[in-house]
Amino acid sequence: MGFVRVGFMLSLMMVCAVGAEHGIKLFNVKDYGAVSDGKADNSKHGMRHVNGMEELGFGSQVAHTLLNSVTFQGPCKGWMAFVIKGILKAPTDIQSLFSNDIWINFQYVDRLAVSGGGTLDGQGAVAWPHNEGIKNPNSRPLLCTMGFGFVTNSRVHHLRSIDSKNTHFGLFRCDHMNFTKIRISAPANSPNTDGIKIGQSSRIKISRVVIGTGDDCISLVSGNKKIDISQVVCGPGHGISIGSLGRYKNERDVEEISVKNCTFYGTSNGVRIKTWASPIPVEASNIIYEDIVMNNVSNPIIIDQQYCPYPPCSQTPSNVQVSGVTYKNIRGSSSSNVAVSLRCSQSKPCKDITMEDIDLWHQGAGSVSEFCSHVSGVSYGKQNPPSCL
Ligand SMILES: *[C@@H]1O[C@H](CO)[C@@H](O)[C@H](O)[C@H]1NC(C)=O
Ligand SMILES: *[C@@H]1O[C@H](CO)[C@@H](O)[C@H](O)[C@H]1NC(C)=O
Ligand SMILES: *[C@@H]1O[C@H](CO)[C@@H](O)[C@H](O)[C@H]1NC(C)=O
Repeated sequence: MGFVRVGFMLSLMMVCAVGAEHGIKLFNVKDYGAVSDGKADNSKHGMRHVNGMEELGFGSQVAHTLLNSVTFQGPCKGWMAFVIKGILKAPTDIQSLFSNDIWINFQYVDRLAVSGGGTLDGQGAVAWPHNEGIKNPNSRPLLCTMGFGFVTNSRVHHLRSIDSKNTHFGLFRCDHMNFTKIRISAPANSPNTDGIKIGQSSRIKISRVVIGTGDDCISLVSGNKKIDISQVVCGPGHGISIGSLGRYKNERDVEEISVKNCTFYGTSNGVRIKTWASPIPVEASNIIYEDIVMNNVSNPIIIDQQYCPYPPCSQTPSNVQVSGVTYKNIRGSSSSNVAVSLRCSQSKPCKDITMEDIDLWHQGAGSVSEFCSHVSGVSYGKQNPPSCL
């Protein structure tokens, strides 16, 4: 849940100073607190020039390298490649848990490629007991593993992220980024370890990503537009979520979201839209969920406009308008009796909801039903459970 707070000054910062006339500035990972286990081939740490691309590398095949929090800040000239090999470990000392928001942070970079087949080990187990998360909104968030702020026209691929202390990958105000072939994992009971959390961004594509974590596999919060999610495998975790919305002042609308060809295994939610019962006005519209398979998911399809994970819970109806949501070809098993739950706001009922070809059954012997409250729309094709629209 910890949000990427761009603008917070980190103790270590690297400004990308590139320009042919200045030659190539070598980057020494040791300057940033990296400590190898002795087996590392440190010659592989550094920046070099490859095919007109700056390449910044970390680690080697055998190394476990410990790296302190670091920020890479643009603008840079041309493509920048950040190559991660071997295993990069986050710090575990208590001071580092609270001194930064993001472990590896990219800001104001255009045309960045992060890849390399390596693993980012957030070493979260030491930090999770310190998580106060949502219970204390003023608590300092734990480290997000990799953050992107104001990053544009970029791609992140062939990486593994394990046991983040907080969100694994956090995006804020990014535009046109592709995330593919990434594996993200943390234990099912690790707090707030969202897989990918996106805020105020546009044209983000996420495909062929496998996520198993203790919170949302993907979380789309305020201000996102044109987000395409496909071929994501999610579980364990809390599902692919829009929201929560309506918690903070000045939230922005969420629109044009597409979630296709995804599979869920044993998650607490499948496709979810969640909003707080609060007077904050914001809209979530033009959303499509298509070709989705559920395997033993507690709430396969859910809109919850009374989202309130911890009491006290407000009795105010949510002021978030949900509209234009299509659920098409969604099938598989539910571990609860209510396979479809559309609990919308009394003051802003959900509208233009379409249910087409829904086929959900109970994982066990029970039957499944659909719950509707303050919602209007149409349903056609197969409807199992019977539609209440
Ligand atoms: C993202 O992927 C799309 C195709 O899915 C491609 O057209 C686009 O160029 C990619 N963008 C980047 C920055 O790699
Ligand atoms: C979904 O899967 C089908 C069949 O595997 C494929 O033809 C289609 O291109 C996929 N769509 C997306 C958006 O990934
Ligand atoms: C289905 O999920 C429920 C609760 O989430 C769990 O208790 C049960 O063991 C799961 N069943 C299977 C077959 O995985």
